Amino acid sequence: MRVLMIGDVVGSCGRSALRNQLPRLNQSLQPDVIIANGENAAGGRGITRAILRELYDLGIDCVTLGNHAWDQREIFDFIDDESRLIRPANYPEGTPGRGVAKIPVGQEVLAVINLMGRTFMPMTECPFRVADALLQELEDIPFILVDFHAETTSEKQAMAWHLDGRVSAVIGTHTHVQTADERILPSGTAYLTDVGMVGAYNGVIGMDRNLVLKKFQTQLPVRLETETGPAQLNAVVIDLDPSGCARQIRRIRIDHDHPFMD
Ligand SMILES: [Fe+2]
Ligand SMILES: [Fe+2]
Repeated sequence: MRVLMIGDVVGSCGRSALRNQLPRLNQSLQPDVIIANGENAAGGRGITRAILRELYDLGIDCVTLGNHAWDQREIFDFIDDESRLIRPANYPEGTPGRGVAKIPVGQEVLAVINLMGRTFMPMTECPFRVADALLQELEDIPFILVDFHAETTSEKQAMAWHLDGRVSAVIGTHTHVQTADERILPSGTAYLTDVGMVGAYNGVIGMDRNLVLKKFQTQLPVRLETETGPAQLNAVVIDLDPSGCARQIRRIRIDHDHPFMD
């Protein structure tokens, strides 16, 4: 099974980059299933129903979220109806939506788990313990990908070791900057600290760089907007064997300095 995981899609720039690049990526990579993090898809803040449809129409099979899950108030109107849209599983019990999606892939099923770190992040239940509990429920499914939405490299690495041999892949999201540490851990779990983002290349993690600078320099409240201009697309491709073990992990980075190559 070949999985394409796309990092945080930021605003309309990110969505149009996907529209432009995904057909070529699909053609050259031929993924069996595509996952994207959509927590910033609506102007950098959350996701709307229309944008979720847009992502599905582009061929994305499953959309994960993160700390921006609730930024668009309308999310509460539809998240419970969307089995392929997931928010961090370690939000407190009773939180709307779900943290796991089961995506049919040919004759198989890929379970996607969204978890959120706790270091420099909103307060949530322990993601390590929540992962343990979820894996008990998913013990019949060999193909499991975890989107670990977290700020610190150390928490992400710790989660990867915690889950090595128990899931197919632990892929980090949230920092919007791709790391170059892709590897397969000894018991067969593919790992990448952060997959990176899809959106403006010349902003600050996708947002208007002048507004971000103003915020840092003045410490005044500044309403951030997404940056415009040329885009970047960051993703990762993971190949899984029939037992769910990772066989290969490869980063995808497309931007002005890294043009697409077949
Ligand atoms: Fe994000
Ligand atoms: Fe985030």
